[in-house]
Amino acid sequence: MTAERADDARILVRTREYRDSDWADWLLMSISLFPSYPADDLAAGMIEHRAREDAAVFVADRGDDSLAGFVEVGARRYADGCATSPVGYIEAWYVDADVRRRGIGRALLAAAEDWARARGYREMASDATLENAVSHAAHAHAGYEEVDRVVQFRKSLGDADGREGG
Ligand SMILES: CC(C)(COP(=O)(O)OP(=O)(O)OC[C@H]1O[C@@H](n2cnc3c(N)ncnc32)[C@H](O)[C@@H]1OP(=O)(O)O)[C@@H](O)C(=O)NCCC(=O)NCCS
Repeated sequence: MTAERADDARILVRTREYRDSDWADWLLMSISLFPSYPADDLAAGMIEHRAREDAAVFVADRGDDSLAGFVEVGARRYADGCATSPVGYIEAWYVDADVRRRGIGRALLAAAEDWARARGYREMASDATLENAVSHAAHAHAGYEEVDRVVQFRKSLGDADGREGG
């Protein structure tokens, strides 16, 4: 990937496609992004994402064999607010706290958008939790318009006999 930034003399971050040697850093960043999920579950999801033909991972490379961020992008058949199908979807997006607000997040989104554009998609979509105001601002700054707010629910149906199980 091409996006490069040198906002800080100590940091030259280049956005590029994921490679196998990035695994450990990607997992650590995923754990930071989703602290309530067990690492094994996250790793399984990452392997699944990598196995998809219609998905990709881009990383922000610090230039010293370590990473500063990543974005997971994939195709979705439908996304709220979109008029075309399929669309590119931002499945996960993260930048290390020490290098935030330097444009790295935007550069990662741009890499994901280039990937989607190259596949012929006409729209991108993404989501964020209701309380993640930083993500809302960063999406808006990168050109994403808010299309909806949702509250999600679940209810246990118990076991096969209808007994409550949790
Ligand atoms: C969201 C995130 C990926 C953005 O990464 P980033 O590298 O800081 O993003 P950028 O530097 O490209 O910021 C783009 C714009 O977002 C907005 N923004 C970013 N952080 C902000 C903050 N803390 N407060 C207000 N606006 C903010 C600004 O408009 C910013 O542009 P500016 O710095 O020129 O004002 C990063 O904050 C992050 O990893 N957060 C924790 C994980 C997370 O919430 N991920 C998103 C899940 S949906």
